[in-house]
Amino acid sequence: MEEKITVSIIKADVGGWPGHALVHPELMSVARKELEKVKGKLLIDYHVANCGDDLELIMTHRRGTDDEEVHRLAWETFETATKKAEELKLYGAGQDLLSDAFSGNIKGMGPGVAELEFIERRGEPIVAFLMDKTEPGAFNLPIFKMFGDPFNTIGLVIDPSAHAGFRFEVWDIYEHKRVFMDCPEEMYSLLALIGAKSRYVIKRIFPKPGGSLPDNEAVAAISTEKLYEIAGDYVGKDDPVALVRAQSGLPALGEVLEPFSFPHLVSGWMRGSHNGPIMPVAQRNAVCTRFDGPPRVVALGFQIANGRLVGPVDLFDDPGFDNARSLAKDAADYMRRHGPFEPHRLPLSEMEYTTMPKVLGKLKNRFKSVK
Ligand code: F6R
Ligand code: MG
Ligand code: MG
Repeated sequence: MEEKITVSIIKADVGGWPGHALVHPELMSVARKELEKVKGKLLIDYHVANCGDDLELIMTHRRGTDDEEVHRLAWETFETATKKAEELKLYGAGQDLLSDAFSGNIKGMGPGVAELEFIERRGEPIVAFLMDKTEPGAFNLPIFKMFGDPFNTIGLVIDPSAHAGFRFEVWDIYEHKRVFMDCPEEMYSLLALIGAKSRYVIKRIFPKPGGSLPDNEAVAAISTEKLYEIAGDYVGKDDPVALVRAQSGLPALGEVLEPFSFPHLVSGWMRGSHNGPIMPVAQRNAVCTRFDGPPRVVALGFQIANGRLVGPVDLFDDPGFDNARSLAKDAADYMRRHGPFEPHRLPLSEMEYTTMPKVLGKLKNRFKSVK
């Protein structure tokens, strides 16, 4: 049996610089130092990155998904980075570490997690997508396009090894349930769910049985942990990450990136309470400034060589995405002009901040029934 490789992204916001704009470079150095200590032992390789104010640990190892030691390493790295954030009085130091002590698995403790375990192919391209100022449902549209839409992914039409389509794992984050749906057979029903992106989120994609790739190894995974674990209580925005494998029976690299040529509207942005376009940017431009945004997505590409992360290539650092950025800027202007009105501001049920109970409380006695 060939030994499987695991790629894990674990991310958290442990302090912004300034406000919620960016990760301070000293936090990145602290994280690199911590991961370097276990390179060649617990980890095969790592890459530390950021998107806006989120610190992203991209790691490879042979311990499988949900491994306690890998999750502990990430947790302790975030704790050490938090100490540095406190020293620099960065904004919201330690904000995503919701617990005082690590309890065996980082899920539900604040940080987001996306992990894939698989047998490394002869050539293994993988893309790490990092988003800031939005929520996991922001991945529904682009992931659907990659793995389900023949107008995006011509491979679904003309590549015999992709022609059967893919299986989608969709989570209902309110009911804590999941369902597996096959595409294209169940495409319309699938879209009925995932179009409601604040409730139904794509968690993983699998190859169909009988194809050239093992049907039990996910080929894409999206972080949804915080939302899932605390849904029902407080559905906070959980700036998400995703891992997507590419090529040889999977969408080609360019088919994986193509959905981001359209800066679709996502929820998040200022105070996690607004709809706005998601702008694909180069790493150096992942700085959330205008109205604390607009939401950003960075794509880091790697080839994996026996677990080594060969890369990254900053995939949106390409004039090919200039029109998407330009459209995102126009859409941001257009949406901003609505000020506090929906659909720029989110519907009441989805806002992260609200003064509504107080406002209604004050007006209680002034509301009279209308005949
Ligand atoms: C959005 C976000 C920011 C903050 C905003 C207010 O996800 O993090 O837009 O919500 O800057 O932050 P506070 O309430 O901390 O002043
Ligand atoms: Mg923040
Ligand atoms: Mg963030």
